[in-house]
Amino acid sequence: MSDIKHIVDKNSERYLNELFALLRIPSVSADPKYKTDVLRMADAVKDSLVAAGAEKVEICPTPGYPIVYGEKIIDTNLPTVLVYGHYDVQPPDPLELWTSPPFEPVIRNGNIYARGSADDKGQVFMHVKAFELMLQNNLLPCNVKFMIEGEEEVGSSNLDNFLEANKERLKADCVLVSDTSMIANDIPSINTGLRGLSYVEVEVTGPNRDLHSGVYGGGVANPINVLCEMIASLKDSDLHISIPGFYDDVIELSQAERDALNSAPFEVEEYKRELKIGDVMGEKGYSTLERTATRPTLDVNGIWGGYTGEGAKTVLPSKAYAKISMRLVPNQSPDKITELFKKHFESIAPAGVKVEVRPHHGGWPVVTPTDSNEYRAAAKAMQTTFGKEPIPARGGGSIPIVASFEKILGLKTVLMGFGLDTDDIHSPDEHYGVFNYLKGIETIPYFFRYYAEMKQNG
Ligand code: BES
Ligand code: MN
Ligand code: MN
Repeated sequence: MSDIKHIVDKNSERYLNELFALLRIPSVSADPKYKTDVLRMADAVKDSLVAAGAEKVEICPTPGYPIVYGEKIIDTNLPTVLVYGHYDVQPPDPLELWTSPPFEPVIRNGNIYARGSADDKGQVFMHVKAFELMLQNNLLPCNVKFMIEGEEEVGSSNLDNFLEANKERLKADCVLVSDTSMIANDIPSINTGLRGLSYVEVEVTGPNRDLHSGVYGGGVANPINVLCEMIASLKDSDLHISIPGFYDDVIELSQAERDALNSAPFEVEEYKRELKIGDVMGEKGYSTLERTATRPTLDVNGIWGGYTGEGAKTVLPSKAYAKISMRLVPNQSPDKITELFKKHFESIAPAGVKVEVRPHHGGWPVVTPTDSNEYRAAAKAMQTTFGKEPIPARGGGSIPIVASFEKILGLKTVLMGFGLDTDDIHSPDEHYGVFNYLKGIETIPYFFRYYAEMKQNG
């Protein structure tokens, strides 16, 4: 057994217990009622970095939740890796669908169940423990900087300013992020792309007040009916998005790129079985892997209005609402897509209603290179600890800051995530494999070793 694996095994119980303490803090960034918990979480991240041996550890305020920074500079002539992650989590709702409470972590069947276990506290803490391991065992071969933020799940809107204001302090050679997933525990993969995002909320207003659905029904626009029709019209029968100009900037993949993507291990029958669906559904002409990683989407995330309580109330509502996300692919601009959506959505509203489109956060899509030192170091590290060469694979989720690292700091990112798509991130019963957590702690020191070697050898 390698020395590193031996150390991880010896400390595994402590690594788990320390992570559990962080998972008990409900650091939900979306809901102001958790504000003190989110701030408490920033303190806990700070303490963990200090305890692991980081220096200049600081809670950096922003107009929103703070960013926790820390570093260990061993020699300014050596390369520097900037580790990014987030300590905030998604809301745990609906609570009644959790088998055990979201902020009381437990291990069942080899998985750590808790909100944030995979996204992203478990993956952030792998880096803190790997750093501690490297320091204590004289295995740290280059400089490290940590930047752990608290607003990823709400769009990282204060991060660009932080990057702009801290260019010198954040100087590095690459960014290392563990906030994505692999294909399977025996099929390691490295994420080579993320989708972008445009997120909007729409409000449709009909009559000036709720009305009796018998007295007025049939005579005036029902904003819920209208909203449903408007949403339905956003895709044609091939499930192609029908907003004019929506696809204008999409970079189509070459047949060779599509073939490579589709050669990744994927069983559509297994996918259907696991999700308990009769069939998959998506844009005509594309495979499920393409639909979920390389094609843009439009999805309603929530829709409400009228009466939704117990029993029946005969009411013709005054208002209807929906939250809509559009996942974007290179080279679509989130601002441009938001604008196209707004213009189109307003234009299709019948005269009987008023429509308001309110933009939320957005983010640019990214593709990360596979010929960089950081990618090759990550691939070699995973090859070492999994015994298998990882497959490059594009992911469907978004991490808006990755585009900013390139744009503002000129840094490339490597997305070396250890989660699985089946971890139920953002869902009830989010979990993270104990295997994945410990494998991450074991793999990260190899990344540093190989990265330092590769940079040294040009
Ligand atoms: N870690 C996820 C993103 C992710 C998950 C990427 C799995 C690839 C595979 C991240 O925390 C996330 O949820 N991002 C949000 C972005 C948003 C709130 C701006 C997302 O993708 O919905
Ligand atoms: Mn995440
Ligand atoms: Mn997330």
